[in-house]
Amino acid sequence: MADKPTVALGIDIGGSGIKGAPVDLVTGEFLEDRCKISTPSKSTPEAVAAVVGEIAKQFLHTLPADAPIGVTIPGIVRHGVVKSAANIDKSWMNCNGEELFSKVLGRHVHLVNDADAAGVAELRYGAAKGKDGLVILTTLGTGIGIALLYDGVLIPNAELGHLQLNGFDAETRAAASVKDREGLTYEQWATERLQPYYSFLEFLFSPDLFVVGGGVSRKAEKFLPLLHLETPIIPATLKNAAGIIGAAALAAD
Ligand code: BGC
Repeated sequence: MADKPTVALGIDIGGSGIKGAPVDLVTGEFLEDRCKISTPSKSTPEAVAAVVGEIAKQFLHTLPADAPIGVTIPGIVRHGVVKSAANIDKSWMNCNGEELFSKVLGRHVHLVNDADAAGVAELRYGAAKGKDGLVILTTLGTGIGIALLYDGVLIPNAELGHLQLNGFDAETRAAASVKDREGLTYEQWATERLQPYYSFLEFLFSPDLFVVGGGVSRKAEKFLPLLHLETPIIPATLKNAAGIIGAAALAAD
């Protein structure tokens, strides 16, 4: 069997920026400063692929020719094909992103869900390092992303941000973007929106640990202590590097 690669390129496609960096897979650290380019205002597959190509060009010449490349997308990914587009341009629906990016880069690209990537990164190198049992990572951002990890194994594409809660799609009530849009205080957001959501997840899955990522996790002390759960709930530690690191790690698996 070939040795597992120790270096891979990760690229994370977000709503405002597309970010990439080469990752040391032993430590989970960036080997170079990351490169960030704004997400095109019309974020069609072609426009996004051009930016992904631009970022890859900055780093690929410094990496081994066979270094894996992983890219995230905020939607369901089945065998390289994007199968949902809640918070991205609708033209992504049914687009074979893996094929498109591989063509633009001239190298094989592995496409993964953004929250799955963040979850794997936190489990291998961050807040949930070495945790067994069921770990549920939630990313609170524009939407709610989920990674389900059982004994270190990822169960991909768990779209629990879209659970129906009191007749609403959960992410339209509890995402961080909703807090900002509706001008909720941390207390209102935690008690009225996050509490029912995490209680429901806890009831359905009896997890061993919740990890909370997304930009707002930097302010975790303002809302996590307000939640009443049996399950320990802790902030993610890799911040906005998690997507890049997880994409690289999953590409190398
Ligand atoms: C999407 C998920 C994604 C999450 C975070 C949701 O709206 O359905 O696939 O992981 O947003 O970006």
